[in-house]
Amino acid sequence: MSEVAHTPAQAGSGPVETREILRLSGYQRFIHLLVVIAFFILAFTGIPLKFHEWAWAKMILSALGGYENARYLHRFGAILTFIYIGLYFAEIAYRFVIKREKGLFWGPDSIIPRVEDVIHVAQMVIWFCIGGRRPKIDRWAYWEKFDFFAEAWGNFALGVTGLILWFPAFFTRLLPGFAISMSTIIHGIEASLAVCFIFFIHFFNAHLRREKFPMDMVIVTGRMSMHEFAEDRPAELERVQKDNALFWHQVPPASPVLAKVGRTVGLILLVLGLGISVCITYSSFAEWIPRVIRFFS
Ligand code: HEM
Repeated sequence: MSEVAHTPAQAGSGPVETREILRLSGYQRFIHLLVVIAFFILAFTGIPLKFHEWAWAKMILSALGGYENARYLHRFGAILTFIYIGLYFAEIAYRFVIKREKGLFWGPDSIIPRVEDVIHVAQMVIWFCIGGRRPKIDRWAYWEKFDFFAEAWGNFALGVTGLILWFPAFFTRLLPGFAISMSTIIHGIEASLAVCFIFFIHFFNAHLRREKFPMDMVIVTGRMSMHEFAEDRPAELERVQKDNALFWHQVPPASPVLAKVGRTVGLILLVLGLGISVCITYSSFAEWIPRVIRFFS
């Protein structure tokens, strides 16, 4: 899914030493922005509905203007989700059918997992435990593929159960009545898992690990420095150099204002996300532990 500059003008006329590598296209960053906005709306409206008896949830609900507003906003977030899913598939279809792009579904540029990813996981575990050589990552690391498919699965499970909750009269014509209570349970649990996964695991993988801390700016600017490219994606760099194509991946640096806005918004979202994940974890354990103790006593 590489997106490279196609003309010398796009590749940038600035001095070679200041040029950066274009990793994510404007369209890819736009879709990710929609994902972030929709996910925050859904999480900050849905989660307080599920945990409405807790003081922190009541505070969020009252900040949103009450229970009914939260429900409307939740449906708005869901529509935004269906829009970005549609836009994502429209781009894939365009690149596959019209542009006849090769390597979208298989190969080093594809997000689809390969045997190499399993080898990379094993190499990473060995490197963590006894040292040695770190895996030579290509365009997409195995943890990025994992995050991508976790998000895809979450959207599928939450989308289907969410639609059943939204249109119960329609769905109970096709499904038995208990589908509604099953959907409420699955939707609530999957949503709590999704929020904790995004803020504890995805944020750590993408932003909080040592090499990227406190934030990987590539999702805002789309660019990474040559040094980062060599460190982070050695296999991709080797491929690009072998094809004599490095120039076509290089662009001038992004505007510093964009980077500053991205950093500020990113920090606010990180604090909010971690905050609600801690609340979910605390309230879930506080609700479940007494039930487990009662069950075994
Ligand atoms: C993407 C499509 C989605 C749709 C169509 C959808 C739809 C719905 C609907 C209709 C409800 C019932 C709200 C009410 O009481 O009126 C609901 C509840 C809820 N939603 Fe979603 N939702 C979606 C995604 C999400 C996501 C991504 C999250 C969180 C990350 C989420 C979290 C929740 C939670 C926690 C509840 C409360 C469940 C309970 O009461 O136990 N939803 N959703």
